[in-house]
Amino acid sequence: MAGVIGQRGLPVLPLAAFLAGCDLARSPASTLVPKSDFGQESHRLFTLVLWIDVVIFLIVAGILVAAIIRFRERDPAALPPQVRGNPRLELTWTILPAVVLTVIAFQTVPAIFKSQAAPAPDALRVRVIGHQWWWEFEYPGLGVRTASDLYLPAGKPVFLELTSQDVIHAFWVPQLGGKRDTVPGQKNRILMTPTTPGEYPGQCAEFCGESHANMRHWAVVLPPADFDAWVARQKSPAVEPAEGSPAAKGREVFLQKQCVGCHTIQGASAGGLGPDLSHFGSRKTIAGGMLAPKGPEAFAGDLARWLRNPPAVKPGSLMPNLRLTDVEVAALVAYLTSLK
Ligand code: CUA
Repeated sequence: MAGVIGQRGLPVLPLAAFLAGCDLARSPASTLVPKSDFGQESHRLFTLVLWIDVVIFLIVAGILVAAIIRFRERDPAALPPQVRGNPRLELTWTILPAVVLTVIAFQTVPAIFKSQAAPAPDALRVRVIGHQWWWEFEYPGLGVRTASDLYLPAGKPVFLELTSQDVIHAFWVPQLGGKRDTVPGQKNRILMTPTTPGEYPGQCAEFCGESHANMRHWAVVLPPADFDAWVARQKSPAVEPAEGSPAAKGREVFLQKQCVGCHTIQGASAGGLGPDLSHFGSRKTIAGGMLAPKGPEAFAGDLARWLRNPPAVKPGSLMPNLRLTDVEVAALVAYLTSLK
């Protein structure tokens, strides 16, 4: 192999292997396969700017290469012609970039305004609230509040109202478009229509402290009927465990421990610091989107690991190690996973 490529070709191998390994279009966090009108608009602008850049690069690189060849040193003693100023050339390289930038601005600025316009009256309003280190999603018109999983209906305009509870975060679901900062005391907006049902990963995109890298979430885009069913489930009262069941024991532990000070479970507690857990068992992800268990058994296992020592799983976690016994952890897992 090395003989065929020759020694000079060798440095290319790692690059080729790298590019073969990262199929950008199929990466779940790729902006190149947009799944909303906002994402498609961003992608259109990206493609436009990319091709303008390619043309500029070819022109500049071509002139550079031509200059290197044509004006290379032939006689070390000869002094090249000494030139001072060239108004025509200078005007050209001032006006041409100005024209290019104007074209890009006329394409970009309307797209920015469109993505944060006043919402249509039928748009679904979602308050997106950044916390260290998890996302809260509140649907004021629907009376639903959740965390880490953002459910949206396909084909309907969505109005995301972005803010933060503590420091600056940035909301970003690459396939839906973005990203946009969430700033305490300020409301930023994203107006978009998700086009395709699917599950799209999101990641906080503004350094916000120790567990910034662990501040994730999923956007779950559902067909409208499935979305309505999800809303109905979330609006239903929290499940009351049957008397004497393991879940009922877990409910007791929940009520006795500090959990109640930070978490809301409808009918059980009303804490506001941490995520609302009323329908925790229906979540795709836990621990601020950091853990995305695959299947019910993994869910219970991951949850137990989290409850035993949250800061060990997510450094800096505001949820402290409550020094729960294994029996208490098992009871809490039974209770929390029952809250569908
Ligand atoms: Cu929140 Cu980075």
